Amino acid sequence: MDFDYFYSKQKSYFGDAPSDGLVAMLKEHDVNVGKALDIGAGEGRNSIYLASLGFDVTSIEPTKDGANKIIEKSNKLDLNINVLNCDYLSENLNEKYDFIIAGTSLDHMEKQYLDNAVDKLKDSLNVGGLIYIVVFTKNDPGYLKQLDKASECSNFINHYFEENELKEYFKDFDILYYNEYIKPDNTHGKPHVHGKAKLIARKI
Ligand SMILES: C[S@@+](CC[C@H](N)C(=O)[O-])C[C@H]1O[C@@H](n2cnc3c(N)ncnc32)[C@H](O)[C@@H]1O
Repeated sequence: MDFDYFYSKQKSYFGDAPSDGLVAMLKEHDVNVGKALDIGAGEGRNSIYLASLGFDVTSIEPTKDGANKIIEKSNKLDLNINVLNCDYLSENLNEKYDFIIAGTSLDHMEKQYLDNAVDKLKDSLNVGGLIYIVVFTKNDPGYLKQLDKASECSNFINHYFEENELKEYFKDFDILYYNEYIKPDNTHGKPHVHGKAKLIARKI
């Protein structure tokens, strides 16, 4: 079972609204409304929001159902999104972006590939550009095997981040915000809890 299973079952598994954190960060931080990359875009809630704000969006999503939904939704809304139905790890991007979002997708990559994924992400960002990254941490019930509190997708996670690990990856960036927290989630499946780390940083 993978995300295709959940994406095919429901119209919008993660809902249509963009993530609260993305909306808040775009209000609080100075972001050039230019080219944006959404890594692990899912069914496109954040890509669509960014495109509606005027960003020129590229969405990378390896599941067929997720990628197709982004195409369908963006066509319906008359938004132009470049959807790449592929794995971020094997895709060579020649473009540079002003904003890169990875909303709980880097944690789906195995640790052995993470250094390359992060290097690639950094290379793809223009100087002055911003990143918004959220990952699952070892405080997540999925890692702690507290299955009554864990998300039904928690077994898709390949790497739960250590304390400060995400921040360390970007120590050469200007870190504007970093937090590790536990948060209830009622957006999909049964009510559950997540342990996450969130990073907002600027390339210098
Ligand atoms: C928890 S979902 C989040 C989806 C979306 N970011 C959101 O917030 O609605 C994680 C997504 O990452 C995608 N993903 C997993 N591994 C990936 C990889 N190697 N490259 C790109 N995307 C990946 C999955 O297919 C899934 O859609």
